[in-house]
Amino acid sequence: MASPIIRVGPNQLSINDPDYYDIIYTAGYKFPVDPAYYTAVGGPVDSVFGLSDHVAHRARRGALNHFLSKVNVHKRDQLLQNRIGTLVDRISSQAKASEDPPNLSELLGCLTVDIITEYSYGQSWHALDTKDTRSEVPLYLVLETIKSWFQVSRWLWPLQFLFHALPFWFSNMVAPRNAKGLLRLEKLVDDLADECIDNRGKNLTSKNIHATVFEASLKADSSSYKLTPSAIRGDAVSVVGAGVDTTRTTLMMAVYAASVDQSIQQRLHDELVEAFPQGFDGMTFKACERLPYLTAFIKECLRMWPASPSVLPRKVPKEGLWCRESFIPGGTTVAMCIYLMHQVETAFPNPKTFDPARWLAEDDSTLREKYFVPFSKGPKICLGIHLAYAELYMTLAALFRRFNFKLHPDNSITGDWKDHIMIEVQGNLVVTVEEYDD
Ligand code: HEM
Repeated sequence: MASPIIRVGPNQLSINDPDYYDIIYTAGYKFPVDPAYYTAVGGPVDSVFGLSDHVAHRARRGALNHFLSKVNVHKRDQLLQNRIGTLVDRISSQAKASEDPPNLSELLGCLTVDIITEYSYGQSWHALDTKDTRSEVPLYLVLETIKSWFQVSRWLWPLQFLFHALPFWFSNMVAPRNAKGLLRLEKLVDDLADECIDNRGKNLTSKNIHATVFEASLKADSSSYKLTPSAIRGDAVSVVGAGVDTTRTTLMMAVYAASVDQSIQQRLHDELVEAFPQGFDGMTFKACERLPYLTAFIKECLRMWPASPSVLPRKVPKEGLWCRESFIPGGTTVAMCIYLMHQVETAFPNPKTFDPARWLAEDDSTLREKYFVPFSKGPKICLGIHLAYAELYMTLAALFRRFNFKLHPDNSITGDWKDHIMIEVQGNLVVTVEEYDD
């Protein structure tokens, strides 16, 4: 039997054995993150995502947990419904006016930008309200460029520090297109963070009903743990950075998969008509979550196209790790791939086939649930998991209730993708749309 361990660097191993996921990722902070990797791709070093010190990480997650909790996400149903309503209207009018066919790569990018910015910063980017969605380099394009920047910064990480040290106007002038995106996002966050930092110590209540991510971060501030301004900015960039492309890609691939297999799309529509006979009314996160086929469909999309498919490196603790017959010494970097977890035959027979029904089978589902880790597990499990699920459920419910999608001849995406730390789907999802009148 082939070894599940491959050496990928002088002190770095890749492990492909699903039973080690819980050992490496779930066991508290026993296997700490590899700081070299998180410095290179984690965005701001002093952010919840980039932090490698586990005491600081726990404090910062604690502060953000409530902000992104399921209870808080449920309270924001209206925010999501408003934005999704704008998306649906836009697709409908574009289809009716027989303008260019809807480009869902762009429109879904605008949707996720608008939702995460309103949720986190208290003000929407209004990308969906811009006629030409590419005209002003909206945030989803900025984040698309950051993704390709990771491929450079992962290996040439000092460049990251260099760009941060330069004045904004200068970096903006000289930086390559990819880095410009990151700098521009940070500049915008700086302006909002400054306002919040100026108010530090005052009893903050945002102009909006719910706290912003800046106010939420400040909750980690205590006499024993002092939050720096760059930490507040870092968290604001991390949450938005992690929350745009991930959900956008999953939504894109979901519409693609349903467009390719019309029997799947019909089954989704039938379930939604039965659950929501009045159309959009009552399509809350809670109501959508109860639908078994929609749930199976979303899980299958996350299994096939986990937005963060590749390695998440961790350090082996000093006592070392036995992996099958091999001893791995303490200090070695080990990593597992979420994509490979989702390809394990014993849990997911015919893993390359897109089959939502596998989630409804009445067999023993223990292994399926155990190896399904699109949001990872343990202390660094995705902080935005509830918001991500809300966006997926509510958007897909609204789209498949109202429209039937087919791939347009101009469509250029397939089920293929590249590993750019996050999934990189090349091309554009272009669709023809038919509107249901029931
Ligand atoms: C389908 C959508 C999403 C997927 C598949 C996904 C996946 C992941 C994964 C696998 C991680 C763990 C990374 C690691 O161990 O280093 C992670 C972390 C994170 N995610 Fe998500 N994510 C999604 C959406 C979101 C959204 C919408 C937000 C923002 C609200 C978000 C915010 C974060 C943050 C802040 C972290 C860092 C947590 C930490 O370091 O403690 N994610 N995500």
